[in-house]
Amino acid sequence: MKVPSLNAAAAVLLVATAADAAGSLTPRSWDEAYNMANTLVGEMSLEQKVNITTGAGWEKTLCVGQTGSTTNPDFPSLCLQDGPLGVRIAHNVTAGLSGITASQSWDKKALRKRGEYMGKEFRGKGAHFQLGPDVEIMRSPFAGRIFESFGEDPYLNGVAGVETTIGIQSQGVIATGKHYILNNQEHNRMNASSVVDDRTLREIYAYPFARVIEAGIGSIMCSYNRINGTYSCENDATLNKLLKEEMGFQGVVQSDWGATHSTSQSANHGLDVTMPGDIDMGDGLSYFGKNLTEAVKRGDVSEDRVTDMARRTVASYYKMRQDEDFPEISINSFNESEAPEVLVQGNHGHLVREMGAAAVVLLRNNDNTLPLSDSLKKIAIVGSDAGISPDGINCGQFQACDNGTLAMGYGSGAAYFPYLVSPYEGIKNRAGDDVEIVHTFDDWNTDAAADLAKTADIALVFANSDSGEQVEVLDGNNGDRNNLTLWHNGDNLIKAVADANENTVVVIHSVGPVTMPWVNHPNIKAIVWPGLPGQESGNSLADVLFGDVNPSGRLPYTIAKEESDYNVHIDLNHTIEFKEKLLVGYKYFDAMNIDPLFEFGFGLSYTNFTYSNLKVKTSDNNNTIATATVSVKNSGDVAGDEIVQAYISFPESAGEPPKLLRGFEKVHLKKGRRSTVTFDFTKTELSIYDLEKADWVIPSGEFTLHIGASSRDIRLSATFTLN
Ligand code: BGC
Repeated sequence: MKVPSLNAAAAVLLVATAADAAGSLTPRSWDEAYNMANTLVGEMSLEQKVNITTGAGWEKTLCVGQTGSTTNPDFPSLCLQDGPLGVRIAHNVTAGLSGITASQSWDKKALRKRGEYMGKEFRGKGAHFQLGPDVEIMRSPFAGRIFESFGEDPYLNGVAGVETTIGIQSQGVIATGKHYILNNQEHNRMNASSVVDDRTLREIYAYPFARVIEAGIGSIMCSYNRINGTYSCENDATLNKLLKEEMGFQGVVQSDWGATHSTSQSANHGLDVTMPGDIDMGDGLSYFGKNLTEAVKRGDVSEDRVTDMARRTVASYYKMRQDEDFPEISINSFNESEAPEVLVQGNHGHLVREMGAAAVVLLRNNDNTLPLSDSLKKIAIVGSDAGISPDGINCGQFQACDNGTLAMGYGSGAAYFPYLVSPYEGIKNRAGDDVEIVHTFDDWNTDAAADLAKTADIALVFANSDSGEQVEVLDGNNGDRNNLTLWHNGDNLIKAVADANENTVVVIHSVGPVTMPWVNHPNIKAIVWPGLPGQESGNSLADVLFGDVNPSGRLPYTIAKEESDYNVHIDLNHTIEFKEKLLVGYKYFDAMNIDPLFEFGFGLSYTNFTYSNLKVKTSDNNNTIATATVSVKNSGDVAGDEIVQAYISFPESAGEPPKLLRGFEKVHLKKGRRSTVTFDFTKTELSIYDLEKADWVIPSGEFTLHIGASSRDIRLSATFTLN
């Protein structure tokens, strides 16, 4: 064996130190966690086990939900806290990118780091469970909670969900995949029934859940709605059969808040913990608790099942090593002023800024208008979305307010901003004293906006569109958006500014797609799409506008030309039929040959990339069924990052949409440099759900692999055959 040189040894040591500094831990295996849980739960009485399955009651605890505890043997009350973007109802925390914007980065490393810092903050506040990630599919762009998850594609949701989960759990916090399942709009979410066939259910909606389960996620939250007539939290088909048997989920199923509707049926059909415990929020009663104990005594629920229910929570706790030195709970959700001051933000703001810049999607850049030139003397900034709300950064119940810059949606998926850098502030700071910045935040006085824009070398006009959870009605929108138009007179404002200044740049902060009736205005030279960037909004934006960061964000959804181009709108019926089946998002636009305005996967850069030499070969070693390599070159003038995307067309007999995203890699390339990108395709990427066999199969025949810069910008294709 070659003796390692001193340098190599020192390098190893350094890496080890860096890992320690990051403070990550390795979760225990499920087997080990179950062994430990068996011992502890084996010592518990029926009542003690039931206690662990029963939330301690709405507003009775420090966290939004807490499990019951036991003494002798001792098991603590575990804290469950929202949400998918950071610690909710807590101060001194980081309010970073929403899920939808994090996925705009198409950057696995950044997604992992986001999970890690969030996990660190939940742990620091003593929260055992983070109620995220949300991996629900954006079935319709109108749906209120689309900003919490990762867009319209199952593969992208899966990858983003996995990176987030691994990141969170590396800090010893149990991640919660939600909302399981088919809770894809807010209207009637408490009782509407989603009707879907078995193939669509698996290939589109369960797919990202399967991925986070493979990554070892500790918890899944069942949703409010019904599925094929039966409530999600008492649904044998989706909980016992699909989630636990088919997908092999070993962690704990918790109900959404108030989503439990029965005792025996829920327990027997797969619910493990009822949250927050109550029958009706705040009534102090429970379907579990005493009712569950009695059901066992009557013989309606077996004690073995209750043992399994308790064991799943205890095993998740051991898996994440929460038995080793876990901080005290320092959240006080219902008495905020009583919460002790515990600072957990560290330097996470830097990560938020970096990731926010990496997530900016540049939709148009005519005449190289961006990055902003050094010779600019005067910039006009127009629109309330460029400033801070006059009501403060944390206005509105659940952040349901939208009269300043939009940096997150509203509802339980929101968190308090510790500070919020507005676009105006970010741009002004970066521009320095030599550039004059003039502004108006009045969206309704279009004449004043035009007069101001006229005087500047360039005009940046801002607008937004908000949505959230149905707990609040905002500007007449009950969670879901009533339409996809810009809020606050945005369309008129943009038009007025574009009429007045021939160098107009439009910046839109939105939860999802909007319509752009002004898009063909010749003076609109650039369109910038930062999504919902969180507290560092203005800095991340300025980094891209001034060219300190070369944009590499890509759309995680389709922006259509017209609202009516989308096939799924909010359904007000109590039975919601998923008639579009597999044709969700770009798959529908591809199948129907509809030209989108900006397609799924689209985003520009300040440089250009060329693709060559695509090779694909099949192999039968290990799990990899096909491997592809492609050469990508930065053929432009500045360094940049390309998101190389892999789409697969299945053999026609498979009955799939024209193409499916099945891989992506982000590569950084200096000017003139080239790199080889490799994709490995396994059963996960190459199989379909065969209804007759009731199993996943790899169809035989000819597959076509498309490599490109977006779903419509395919640069190279190659075929391979599987038998
Ligand atoms: C939401 C969940 C959330 C829970 C606890 C529910 O209304 O649907 O996403 O985790 O409340 O706040």
